[in-house]
Amino acid sequence: MWKGRFEGDTSKAVQKFTQSLDLDWRLYRHDIRGSIAHARMLGSAGIITAEEADLIVCGLEAVMTEIELGRLQPSDELEDVHMNIESRVIELFGPIGAKLHTGRSRNDQIATTMRLYMRDRLLDQRGAVLHLLEALLNRAEAHLDVVVPGYTHLQQAQPISMGHYWMAWFEAFSRDMRRLASAYDALDECPLGSGALAGSTLPLNREATARELRFSSVSQNSMESVASRDYMADYHHFASMFAVHASRLAEDLIIYSTQEFAWIKLPDAFCTGSSMMPQKKNPDVLELIRGHTGQVIGHMVDLLVTMKGLPMTYDRDLQEDKRGLFASLDALDGVLEVLPQLLVATEVDAEAARAALDKGRGFALATDVAEHLVMQGIPFRDAHFKVGKLVKHCIDENKAFTDLSFEELKTLVPEADKRTMDIISGPDVLRRSVEKRNTFGGTGFTQVAARIRQAKDHVFGVGEALSSERDRVRPRW
Ligand code: ARG
Repeated sequence: MWKGRFEGDTSKAVQKFTQSLDLDWRLYRHDIRGSIAHARMLGSAGIITAEEADLIVCGLEAVMTEIELGRLQPSDELEDVHMNIESRVIELFGPIGAKLHTGRSRNDQIATTMRLYMRDRLLDQRGAVLHLLEALLNRAEAHLDVVVPGYTHLQQAQPISMGHYWMAWFEAFSRDMRRLASAYDALDECPLGSGALAGSTLPLNREATARELRFSSVSQNSMESVASRDYMADYHHFASMFAVHASRLAEDLIIYSTQEFAWIKLPDAFCTGSSMMPQKKNPDVLELIRGHTGQVIGHMVDLLVTMKGLPMTYDRDLQEDKRGLFASLDALDGVLEVLPQLLVATEVDAEAARAALDKGRGFALATDVAEHLVMQGIPFRDAHFKVGKLVKHCIDENKAFTDLSFEELKTLVPEADKRTMDIISGPDVLRRSVEKRNTFGGTGFTQVAARIRQAKDHVFGVGEALSSERDRVRPRW
């Protein structure tokens, strides 16, 4: 279609090398939607007649049906999705079809098509992340009063509410949700009408196409519109951050479910067996979630490196922007399909969690003892030192905190009283420790419960906003 100034045919090898159909054929719906808006605008602006515009729109709709029924297969000779569709419209309507590409370049066409395509994919993904947030809330509510070990450096640190643990991930993924929403906002402007780079001599009505395609605004600069891909980079940043979070969560659950920790029970349906060892139950789903992270980060780096040396404006290198983007979109869709289901079926073995803390000999309560002494006026550094000595004594004597007699305690910590004893022994000692960490955002049960209530309202609001956004951008056809 651009052969006018050429003498010979393109070599087969070049056709194969430059075609992008393996990547962009999946964009046909969005490309057609953009073309329909463009044709209607050409008609209403009087650049083509209303009848011609109607015919072209009919042609585009017919091509859509042909593709959907598998009757129109892409051809390499026509390079990409745009030219395959346009040439079919020309085949159907001859000279009238040949008016479709008036005032347009594939440069602003692909920029528009990608934004339309990503808008749909990102909307779906926002729904899927919301679903993940709901799954975390579900677990947080179910495990609010289950006490488990909390770790720093993967060493037992302090007892926590398992609800607090799940809500920790809720907060991280909520921020990812905001990042995804801002990537979505970034793509919400219409580049159509920018032409190859400089706009057009024809009286195109850019407002009209933007409105028809449900974009919130028209892009400001025709050059930048065909050159920029930073809205894709915004998605990649979200995707990378999300993948890193999902990977860390997966890593935790893998560790907590090993025989050595054993206080998390992963659902059978989300584990697999070994072909050789009959006893095995492997956390393959979680490992694959962790295993996807490198690719997703790689795709972000790929795009940024592609962009960094590109002269203003469009360069063919940009055709490669799709490969990593589609791979990351697909990878995240996969993770988002399994992760919420896995989470809601994941159980915590409260007994095993208590046993794990007992194995730590109750030393996870050491800070509680030191803080109790602080409330009696002892400087924290002295209290820290004395409780450290107490721990050392237990290690030397091979004892747990609960095995200490009041006399032993008194020898090492003369300021200790009966209430100090209550902190390290007695019924519900772990639960009481969690209950007392009542600072804002702490693991105290009332803190966590309050945050869960708030978070549920928030999630409901986000769900409502998402469904009205879906209605706003939904195509007419
Ligand atoms: N297939 C191209 C892409 O995906 C479309 C734009 C081609 N433009 C050009 N001037 N060769 O980027």
